[in-house]
Amino acid sequence: MWEETFKNFPDSKPHGPSSVGVDISFPGFEHVYGIPEHADSMALKTTKSTDPYRLFNLDVFEYELYNPMALYGAVPVMMAHNEKRTVGVFWHNAAETWIDISSNTADKNFFSKIADIVKGGSKEIPQTDTHWISESGVIDVFIMLGPSAHDVFYQYAQLTGTTNLPPMFAVAYHQCRWNYNDQDDVKNVDAMLDQYDIPYDVIWLDIEHTDGKKYFTWDNDKFSQPEEMINNVASKGRKMVTIVDPHLKRDDNYQEYREARDKGYMVKNKDGNDYDGWCWPGSSSWPDFANPEVRQWWASKFHYEDYHGSTPDLFTWNDMNEPSVFNGPEITFHKDVLHMDGYENRDLHNMYGFYVQQATAEGQLVRSDNKERPFVLTRAFFAGSQRYGAVWTGDNMAEWSHLKVSNPMLLSLNLAGITFSGADVGGFFKNPDTELLTRWYQAGAFQPYFRAHAHIDTKRREPYLQPEGNMKVIRHAIRTRYSYLPFWYTLFYEGETKGVPPMRPLWVEYPTDRDTFSMDDEYLLGTSLLVKPITEPSQTGTQVYFPGSGEVWYDVDTFKPYNGGQTTYVEAPLSKIPVFQRGGSIVPRKFRIRRSSSLMVHDPFTLIVCLDKKGAAKGSLYIDDYHTFNYRKGEYLLRDFSFDQNEFHSQSGDQFGNFSTKEWMERIIVVGLRTGPTKAVLKVKGEERSLHWEYNSQTGQLIIRKPGVNIASDFSIKLS
Ligand code: NOJ
Repeated sequence: MWEETFKNFPDSKPHGPSSVGVDISFPGFEHVYGIPEHADSMALKTTKSTDPYRLFNLDVFEYELYNPMALYGAVPVMMAHNEKRTVGVFWHNAAETWIDISSNTADKNFFSKIADIVKGGSKEIPQTDTHWISESGVIDVFIMLGPSAHDVFYQYAQLTGTTNLPPMFAVAYHQCRWNYNDQDDVKNVDAMLDQYDIPYDVIWLDIEHTDGKKYFTWDNDKFSQPEEMINNVASKGRKMVTIVDPHLKRDDNYQEYREARDKGYMVKNKDGNDYDGWCWPGSSSWPDFANPEVRQWWASKFHYEDYHGSTPDLFTWNDMNEPSVFNGPEITFHKDVLHMDGYENRDLHNMYGFYVQQATAEGQLVRSDNKERPFVLTRAFFAGSQRYGAVWTGDNMAEWSHLKVSNPMLLSLNLAGITFSGADVGGFFKNPDTELLTRWYQAGAFQPYFRAHAHIDTKRREPYLQPEGNMKVIRHAIRTRYSYLPFWYTLFYEGETKGVPPMRPLWVEYPTDRDTFSMDDEYLLGTSLLVKPITEPSQTGTQVYFPGSGEVWYDVDTFKPYNGGQTTYVEAPLSKIPVFQRGGSIVPRKFRIRRSSSLMVHDPFTLIVCLDKKGAAKGSLYIDDYHTFNYRKGEYLLRDFSFDQNEFHSQSGDQFGNFSTKEWMERIIVVGLRTGPTKAVLKVKGEERSLHWEYNSQTGQLIIRKPGVNIASDFSIKLS
């Protein structure tokens, strides 16, 4: 009786039409953020003259920018911020959702604005009003009261969990394309990157590696020796990833399909038959990942005996899990598709991809007896997906505008808890010119998840194929990423324990600075680095806003100081990534760059100590075995560093961690030191020893060489 037709697609609506909604007002707030995924600015816009922001996981072809349209993932979480407070709302509903935003100040018409000017400014208290409406479900709303952004992150993490500490390789550089054609191609890319001294940790195989798009299988001609191929890559400490999508080819000779069908695990159409739709393999069915039994079955498929040719060095990419159905309404399931217990896809649509990734991550856990950390990349996601791996922003385009929008998109994801996120470096569709590709690598090197990817119809664009000048700049960007891996890893540890995102809008750390409230072309990594990627062509410099009046920031390459609380033009020719370290911070790095992160595990650290105006700085470093869960049993080290009154200290950051490592302290660079010392004396385990140092009075930079102590030891260095 209630049946409706949407663009020729019937929706039977067996339970009739329904919706739930609520109005939430933020008195005193002009700025709201979050509700990813949209290709839009970080500060959300009012929707007076547009559609509301839509949350409905979809495979959108060539998505438009600065648009509230739905994309691949949905996190119904909004934050509001003003000078005094940050608050958040979590609308816990996985059905199709629309959010309208209006504001008494931003939505004023032209005449009211003129009237305000005439009156000498408006005395009105700003207010943002939001209206949330979902197609089904119950009202289940969480209000996070802050009062600081850090509090909101923590409060939200209590509800949906934090980003699990990724294995180190996942934080490094990933080399992907649709497709690496065969095992020789893989071998060649691996060898070429070595030949050009370009580190990478993971090489990826897209759908063409399979036998007829049947996941968990290999194309026998092109990948006849998968184990040998993976082992070859792994011999340099590297990993591989294969794509495993949730659609199963309806082919009686395909084991995974047959099993799922025979066990009754597929989602059903409204008539109770296995749903049949089109995706890469042609006619396909989809397991009901909402069912825990189905997830367990799926997880078991990752056992080495089941997934032939897989090894412990093989990880997973879940794509098309909105899900994408080529002949479905809006390229997805019909809304009356049935899941377990009679739930319609209408009720839980935005969680389907979440469950796919959950089951896949579970598969990696069980295959290693819960010892190794999983790594799964997903395209579709929901609130809480952070617990299962990384997210990327889908099919972007090799255009400057897409490079630019990657920053606000990732900031919105980070605010909503999806912190291990990135965009396809280089752009998925079309061919980037060399300048765009170079700038994209520079930006990606400072975003949380760093993977180059390209569409099958694009020209090959591996870094070593670029003209020499560009190749060198790209190589430098990737190597710079590797040098900062200890810093990133420490940020992810902080993320797992406190729910804070590594990539942060400036206002998170400078909450009273109104100028930062809608700034989304620059951002912070933790509290220590300020990043302003170049996202426009032909730039040789850029205006950088340095937050914090009274503070000082240092260019990470030259250590040139910039005062906080002002905007300055900074040179940024093609070779330059504008990144600045906050005076008052200590950042751990490793400068012996090797072919992969795991070959660097025993290498020594360099600390970059950037002093504030009082001559002090603080920082920390987190260390463990970089791949297992042993850290949860206490096998880790948290080191706290401080510099004050010409004395440096390294001490344990908590009383719980205990881990032995060969890593040691190679060098300490102190930046912003007004006068050079005459002596640098190391004190460790009661013994004293003088250290070599060099001081450059022009730059105020002191290099203390070879303290040589194991990173686990407490020690101090006194300058006099
Ligand atoms: C769509 C994904 O977004 C893209 O990254 C991938 O290369 C293709 N599917 C083919 O698997």
